[in-house]
Amino acid sequence: MSTPFPVLPRGFTFGTATASYQIEGAHDEDGRGPSIWDTFSHTPGRTKDGATGDTACDHYHRYPEDVALLRDLGVDSYRFSVAWPRIQPTGTGPANAKGLDFYDRLTDELLGAEIAPAVTLYHWDLPQALEDLGGWRTRETAEHFAEYTRLVAERLGDRVARWITLNEPFCTAFSGYAEGRHAPGAQEGTPALAAAHHLLVAHGNAVRVLRETGAREVGITLNIDLVEAASPAPADVAAARRAGTLHNDVWTEPLFAGRYPATEAETWGALADGSYREDGDLALIGAPLDFVGINFYRPLTFADAPHTEPEESRRSAVDIGVRPVDPYGSRHTTMGWPVVPEAFTTLLTGLVARYPELPPVYITENGSAEADTVAPDGAVHDQDRVTYLHDHLTAVAAAIDAGVEVRGYYVWSLLDNFEWAHGYRQRFGIVRVDYDTQKRTPKDSYHWFRRLIEGHRAMDDADRAPVQESR
Ligand code: FCB
Repeated sequence: MSTPFPVLPRGFTFGTATASYQIEGAHDEDGRGPSIWDTFSHTPGRTKDGATGDTACDHYHRYPEDVALLRDLGVDSYRFSVAWPRIQPTGTGPANAKGLDFYDRLTDELLGAEIAPAVTLYHWDLPQALEDLGGWRTRETAEHFAEYTRLVAERLGDRVARWITLNEPFCTAFSGYAEGRHAPGAQEGTPALAAAHHLLVAHGNAVRVLRETGAREVGITLNIDLVEAASPAPADVAAARRAGTLHNDVWTEPLFAGRYPATEAETWGALADGSYREDGDLALIGAPLDFVGINFYRPLTFADAPHTEPEESRRSAVDIGVRPVDPYGSRHTTMGWPVVPEAFTTLLTGLVARYPELPPVYITENGSAEADTVAPDGAVHDQDRVTYLHDHLTAVAAAIDAGVEVRGYYVWSLLDNFEWAHGYRQRFGIVRVDYDTQKRTPKDSYHWFRRLIEGHRAMDDADRAPVQESR
């Protein structure tokens, strides 16, 4: 089948994304301290097959090979995260020189390949020592985050332009402190809401430090969801509103509207006692950003689940009386996530309609986990992933046509990697990793993405003559 590539604007950034704990390995090398994910993954029963990030993709040692893959792919940018416990093994105090040196080498390797680094400061690997002091339940962690940010920004700021303070604070606060599916594995109510707030304060602190150190492009990455009601019944509509508060408004209202969500009381009642808020927080949190990073995988639909029902939603200590439903007649990825690319367009246009002053957007993650196999010819013919990426980039192009300023798109992920509680069973990479040998094999999706990037360069040169390409 021959389809035109989705056409993105001139100067659009193409990239791939990863995260430290998911790929680096070398968990106890060069002075790195333990993070909450080391503790969690080493606790029996927490991850699939008892998988840990001890070795992962061994990227800590193999980064030159991985950067060479990026160079051959032709990406403009690479998003990686810095492991806080490599920089400060116990979360406070002076920098561990060897930890900073690693990211310094990685940055230089990228620049040598003409790839712009995009650095995430926090992609979930909190130093365990800070968790022992209360973790994100306490405001002090947000203060320590500012010190950590300064250490990294002072070292890399001369070469790194694009900074992401936090990745998906929703997951840190609610998957980590309310549902317990992620590290640190807690199931608590009000402390999870306090964690959400302290993450926002940490973001505000980091923005302040990054501005002081002269950072050029500063943003945050959110997994904003398209949240819909299972039916037009008022109870389901109200359920979707509560879910929208939990998933989205907790972040977007303070960040982009300078207020806390108006729907807090109806969403979690007395759980949100506000004891963790201080005067001045909203001004700190709402400081202007240069961009917002959006991670998108699939839409969500919720029905009302009265609190008397013994529902799956009871897994969370922040119980908002909703039940996820799956009305999508579409294909699902191996994560069980429905593939609904149009939802991506709706999400982006809806966000701008709601927040007309929204900063420009980077898609900082999008991709799919598939049941990849190695064919007899040694290749990985991951047509489902190619289709997923094609259709989601087309959805981004449609959002741009509708007026959303999207500046770039990072595929999740460069490599198959440690998919958190799912361990190594879920493969998101456009490059296959054989975990026994650490051999990297670019999949068909890698080659497709390379041709797409090349095609755009050619279009730029030939003044955007349409490019036809088979997928
Ligand atoms: C996102 C995470 C990322 C990866 C993808 C599949 O929630 O940010 O690390 O696990 O999901």
